Amino acid sequence: MTACRICQGSVHQFFDFGRQPLSDGFLRPGKTSGEFFYRLAVGVCRSCTMVQLMEEVPRERMFRADYPYHSSMSVVMREHFTGTARHLLETECRDGDPLVVEIGCNDGVMLRTVAQAGVRHLGVDPSRDVAELAAAKGVRVRIDFFEESLAREVAAAEGPAQVIYAANTMCHIPYLDSVFRGVDALLAPDGVFCFEDPYLGDVVERTSFDQIYDEHFYLFSATSVRAVAGRFGFDLVDVERLPVHGGEVRYTLARSGARRPSQRVEALVREETERRIAEISTLEQFATQVKRNVEDLASLLRRLQEDGARVAAYGATAKSATVTNYGGFGPDLIPVVYDSTPAKQGLLTPGSHIPVRPLEEFSRDYPDYALLFAWNHAGEIVEKEREFREQGGKWILYVPDLHVL
Ligand code: SAH
Ligand code: TYD
Ligand code: ZN
Repeated sequence: MTACRICQGSVHQFFDFGRQPLSDGFLRPGKTSGEFFYRLAVGVCRSCTMVQLMEEVPRERMFRADYPYHSSMSVVMREHFTGTARHLLETECRDGDPLVVEIGCNDGVMLRTVAQAGVRHLGVDPSRDVAELAAAKGVRVRIDFFEESLAREVAAAEGPAQVIYAANTMCHIPYLDSVFRGVDALLAPDGVFCFEDPYLGDVVERTSFDQIYDEHFYLFSATSVRAVAGRFGFDLVDVERLPVHGGEVRYTLARSGARRPSQRVEALVREETERRIAEISTLEQFATQVKRNVEDLASLLRRLQEDGARVAAYGATAKSATVTNYGGFGPDLIPVVYDSTPAKQGLLTPGSHIPVRPLEEFSRDYPDYALLFAWNHAGEIVEKEREFREQGGKWILYVPDLHVL
């Protein structure tokens, strides 16, 4: 029995995706031997309801100097983070000489707006290449993992932070105890700790099972975040559902008693209880639906292959590692995946070893079907690539269930 990473309660496993590679571990052609694998299984804590992975991948394996995920690849996400920065500046940074700290700033997609406003800030990110892209945008970055010791060092050097912010990063960090102690050491008495991550309620409702992979150690809900915050002296004072990445929640935390929680917190916790999103029966149903979606996708890909249709994939996402490796989809069924990220092009996808090619090659020679691995950016991509459909191309999506567009 695995113990909960948060409360030591017992964790009930509800899905096992089997052997999986690093989701962002793209490989050089001809250099595929010795690839790292781990067992990807997910469970729910019977005590605090936190959904978490059963096995932890060492952080240095995932967040390396050449970590290839670049946040600024999506126009919608760039706009989202510009809006987020403006909102934080307007609501939290109006007086004095505030400090904004971001955990997992990546290529500076959020902090560049803070830097342009002339507000003191610091991004913390262990992945060198993306951190250097942030620095090139005028963002101050520290190339390191955020944890208690680093937070104490920053607090001593720069004073308290008015805002500590993280997007799609808190769920990547198994050792939340050290992060919360660090936030406690660094946050101003009336400051906010604000983070947004994929939402368990959306993952369960939409069967977006590929949100489960090595980097996503936790799947948060208002209920589980409120519980973990309370253990470390923080209140969950606000929640906001966000449409990005297929459904996320932004959690705002403050020191216990410092701010009055909004009605929205209680409302979302109540909704989660009513929908039973963290109950074993619900998660078992989710597991059944995942198997069905992957079987349906496998049958479609095999049928298209028999019919001689040309199939390609679009978006070499981290998420798609779960799909291809659990489904057993390799270059025989999906000969190529197109992606806009220079750091991924020319490489092979982890585990499944599908070649990644630049987007220009997609428009040069459309396939009959494009499997949309970046389904969370569907609006943006289907619009940008409308010529593909005008020329008879069809999109394949597998979330919330298999459908052809
Ligand atoms: N905030 C961006 C990036 C998300 S990707 C966005 O929402 O698009 C997650 C980022 O967190 C990566 O750049 C990774 O290097 C970084 N990261 C992972 N663990 C971290 C830690 N312990 N401290 C700080 N950053 C971390
Ligand atoms: P994303 O879904 O944001 O994240 P993850 O890797 O964590 O699952 O990744 C989107 C990928 O799709 C990324 O590699 C960039 C690529 N992409 C395109 O190729 N074209 C586009 O228009 C967009 C928005 C993304
Ligand atoms: Zn627990």
